[in-house]
Amino acid sequence: MAHPDRFLLAGVMGWPVMHSRSPMFHNYWLRKHNLAGTYVPLAIRPEHLAGALRGLHPLGFAGVNVTIPHKQEAMKLVDEVDALAKAIGAVSCIVVRPDGSLAGTNNDCYGFIHALKQEHPEWRADAGPAVVVGAGGGSRAVCYGLAREGAKEIRLVNRTFSRAQQIAREFGGPIRALAWEERHDALEGAAIVVNTTSQGMVGNSALDLKLDRLPISGLAADIVYIPLETRFLAEARKRGNRTMNGLGMLLNQGRPAWKAWFGIEPEVTAELRAMIEKTI
Ligand code: ATR
Repeated sequence: MAHPDRFLLAGVMGWPVMHSRSPMFHNYWLRKHNLAGTYVPLAIRPEHLAGALRGLHPLGFAGVNVTIPHKQEAMKLVDEVDALAKAIGAVSCIVVRPDGSLAGTNNDCYGFIHALKQEHPEWRADAGPAVVVGAGGGSRAVCYGLAREGAKEIRLVNRTFSRAQQIAREFGGPIRALAWEERHDALEGAAIVVNTTSQGMVGNSALDLKLDRLPISGLAADIVYIPLETRFLAEARKRGNRTMNGLGMLLNQGRPAWKAWFGIEPEVTAELRAMIEKTI
């Protein structure tokens, strides 16, 4: 918990990092909770990650988030990685313990599932097949979350088939890897489709996915949040599907981080969302 003579410190380590919206919403929460402290963007070159992490304790940081390109490397550098981060294969949040040791976890899975439940309370994991596009770190968090929530069938499609197969092998259970050519047909009867690739993000081309086979009852979700509405989401919305952008995942993954750093679970409110949306 906050101590009156302590200035709370946390941040996000990335390279590049200045596009990150994390400082904005973490500092909003610090103000809301009347806490003296700050959350800073930390531009850390890959070769400086180990040194930067070791500096957290002497500097008095409660912890940090780690983002591109550090999520996998950080796993090797912290003192302990919890079972969830190990399963996902990436660390998104680091907690500095009182003895200076570093504990790594992954809150992306929580962020995605919590956003889904918050924005689409009617959503049920066992409502029908899920389709996940992409097989990077984002995909692993989403697949893990959907499986844990009880999805009975997860059709995983990725441009590089072997990466999808690798996830299917590691996670087992409901995950089935499908070839990239099968992605359009994979939407047949799907209750949810999630884009976890970088396609559709500002500067990248749109996701190449024909939605014809997606039932109108299907939910289309994107983990991209810049822009707020990717072409994939716009097309889904126009044909009558419910949609969810990536902002809710970003905001919600911050909640367990705060709980671990400061002992408080902050709220993702409409006011907070609107404030961040204005900057995108
Ligand atoms: P992250 O950890 O952020 O998810 P990543 O590991 O680089 O990032 O994964 C990016 C995902 O976007 C991968 O699934 C990637 O497909 P490959 O495994 O074939 O590389 C996918 N991706 C990137 N560019 C793509 C493109 N032009 N078309 C289709 N998928 C693409």
